[in-house]
Amino acid sequence: MTPPGVFANLRAQRACWHPVAFAADLADRPLPADLLGEPLVLWRGRDGSPRVLSDLCVHRGTALSLGRIDGGELVCAYHGWRYAADGRCVAIPQLENPERVPAKARVAAFAARERYGLIWVALAEPRWPLPEVPELEDRSWATVLAGPYRWRCDAARQVENFTDFGHFPWVHPGLLGDPGRPVVPRYAVRTEGHVLHYSIVRPDARNTDDFPVFANEQPGPPERRSRYELHLPYTIVLRLGWGGEQGMVYLFASQPIAADRCAGFVVIGRNYNLQQPGQVIQDFENTIFGQDQVVVESQRPERVPFDLAAELHLKFDAVAVAYRKAMRALGLSASDQPVR
Ligand code: FES
Ligand SMILES: [Fe+2]
Repeated sequence: MTPPGVFANLRAQRACWHPVAFAADLADRPLPADLLGEPLVLWRGRDGSPRVLSDLCVHRGTALSLGRIDGGELVCAYHGWRYAADGRCVAIPQLENPERVPAKARVAAFAARERYGLIWVALAEPRWPLPEVPELEDRSWATVLAGPYRWRCDAARQVENFTDFGHFPWVHPGLLGDPGRPVVPRYAVRTEGHVLHYSIVRPDARNTDDFPVFANEQPGPPERRSRYELHLPYTIVLRLGWGGEQGMVYLFASQPIAADRCAGFVVIGRNYNLQQPGQVIQDFENTIFGQDQVVVESQRPERVPFDLAAELHLKFDAVAVAYRKAMRALGLSASDQPVR
């Protein structure tokens, strides 16, 4: 149980895009996914575009994700009722005339998009568009997917961890930070609507032989230039450079599975090392996210408290402060939501 406080407002987040699956995992079979405590079934319509319905057959509450896709319709596993993409039941095989379907026979349908190798869902009219990441749609860049990283915490804890500058040398020594240089350089956060913008040039670890994934081959102590866009509530676009032409982009988006569960999807683009097998970077991300998971799952409360008095913020925590302020200002957090 968490004590009272200000936490993510799941209802408000229905009107935001969230990732629910890698597009490549959505093929010719229905796929279950939970979003904001709501069970969903994902599938592809006849034209290949993603469809999302409530994962509860209106007849007896069976998970529709146990069913199959036939002729662009979703067929329930229990009694074979057929659903169209808009959630209407269009055939009930037990009836003499299977097409005489009562109007009440329908399930909720939601908006879905396929972009950047992910399936995105909004449970209500989205307030903001998906972020623009042209690099991930540029053929001269290579893309690698990592995750999903399923953690026992809320999506806000996972997002804050991804962009927490103070922890790199402590949790990822030698991989993402240099323990001999723990000071976080100064940076400023600019909040524009639902997007926080900030950049940092920070000490970097040297590229390791185990994980030669970065392009920091410059002489002297390595430095990484990172340009962030944090799109509220749970998506980060991070552009990395080392002063030359070589660039890397991270799209990190956390799926709010429930109030205290999340799954982080990572899409990485780069314009160098194009021939390197994706597994190298995936192994690296699995290591990093594994190191983070232990620490973040230990945090209490397991949800980010959006009340600024709830935790101790220092100057180098400016991102968390701006994030918490913006989440409150936009109504994406609210007082005292019970965990469900
Ligand atoms: S429970 Fe789905 S058809 Fe009966
Ligand atoms: Fe980390």
